[in-house]
Amino acid sequence: MTAAPVARNANAASDLLPACLGGTPAVTLDQKEANRWPIITADDEASVLRVLRTGELSSGHLPKAMGGYPCPHPEVLALECEWATWMGLPVMDVGELVPALAGFKFAPNVLSCNNGTAAILAGLHAMGVGPGDEVIVPSTTWWSSVLTILHCGGVPVFAETDLQTLALDPEDVAKRITPKTKAIVVTHLFGIPAKMDELMDIANRHGIKVMEDASHAHGATYKGAKIGTIGHCAVFSLQVNKLLPSAEGGLLVSNDPELIIDAARLGQYERLVPLKAIDHPYARFAATGFGYKFRMSPLSAAVARPQLTKMDERTARRTANCVRLSKRLETLGLDTFMSKPGSGTERVYFEFLIRYDAAKYAAACGGTAPSTKAVAKALVAEGCDVSAPRYPLLHQQPVFTEADGHWKKLARLEHMSGLPTYDPAALPRTTAGNGTLIKLPSFPSASDELLDQYATAFEKVFGSLAKLPKE
Ligand SMILES: Cc1ncc(COP(=O)(O)O)c(C=O)c1O
Repeated sequence: MTAAPVARNANAASDLLPACLGGTPAVTLDQKEANRWPIITADDEASVLRVLRTGELSSGHLPKAMGGYPCPHPEVLALECEWATWMGLPVMDVGELVPALAGFKFAPNVLSCNNGTAAILAGLHAMGVGPGDEVIVPSTTWWSSVLTILHCGGVPVFAETDLQTLALDPEDVAKRITPKTKAIVVTHLFGIPAKMDELMDIANRHGIKVMEDASHAHGATYKGAKIGTIGHCAVFSLQVNKLLPSAEGGLLVSNDPELIIDAARLGQYERLVPLKAIDHPYARFAATGFGYKFRMSPLSAAVARPQLTKMDERTARRTANCVRLSKRLETLGLDTFMSKPGSGTERVYFEFLIRYDAAKYAAACGGTAPSTKAVAKALVAEGCDVSAPRYPLLHQQPVFTEADGHWKKLARLEHMSGLPTYDPAALPRTTAGNGTLIKLPSFPSASDELLDQYATAFEKVFGSLAKLPKE
């Protein structure tokens, strides 16, 4: 979309004066279309209608000759296969295992779920996280990466966030390993790859598992490997804001197909029935499952499939837009978390956050620079859609800090001694770092003109930083 350039006199004094000090706002172009997400087109609508009209809106069914029992829906299996192909994971014909089902394709390394949260819970269950097991987690993530641990009876152990990647700091993780540590859950926050070599090295040395929460990182790479293929398992949320949007959904992947079967055991009884055909021991649980129902709706799969065909192109456009703006913002001394060219580690822009480190600007502002909130406020006055900070820190939330111990109740661990108490003052580096972040739109369809207006807005604000209110 190209927007009409706005006539403006770059030298007018009111153009240089920040809007919060009486100047004219820099951002005047429409932002709704530039930031619309998801982008729904005729093929998405046709895909949903195609499935809707079949009336088959739950599980699929095995052929009559095999009893006609429930099995995964073909739309859901198709999405799993397409995701596997996109990830570089194998797709098999069920006929290789069960001749009567020749022609049924399936992806042994992928399990779709009704949302990412369910996929995380299923993955934790498959990794064997149980009562009293410690799982090292970041405090800077969406709650699903952490609260699910409580429902396995596990104990989240928060570690500091690395300021460079915004994900777990491997050095701090290493310090928190105990004989009770069972796993690490690492989120590639906002699409920035975590330091996976270091984390995998710690995990392998201690015989513990790593789950990559890749809900923000569809398509990111780490040293040439696709994010989601490095840990013992990985989860991609397909919630509608994500880079692969659907009508709620989640994908668990693992290089180990047995982990996928273990995960299916928790919430997908219809996947246990077909296991009879290969004499898998879990088939005997098919009549009950294990108490949850986590299967993906075929309508969600119908949304995700055409979206997947466009995902790489749309992600590339976001990246180009965010990089264009980042290059201008870096000249102001802001840290924009851009990928280093040629490193093989390429971030994606599920969300676009930048760091404003007030300390860097203090001298130029007579000793104290404006707070992150004050800068964000000045940018909002320019017409920028920015906010700060992004996520509330999890280790400071009442579920962990209140004395009546909600977390212990959820984990059903009240009888156990030696459990941690969560201190909101813990993780000082993470807390300080979180307070320096400013969130921008991720500009899925922005014009260059809009991006340039954002750059101008920042230039105006940073050109008058010393004059801004401090708070
Ligand atoms: C980092 C992260 N993990 C997990 C989830 C949970 O995914 P879902 O919303 O699909 O349950 C989300 C987001 O929504 C997320 O941002």
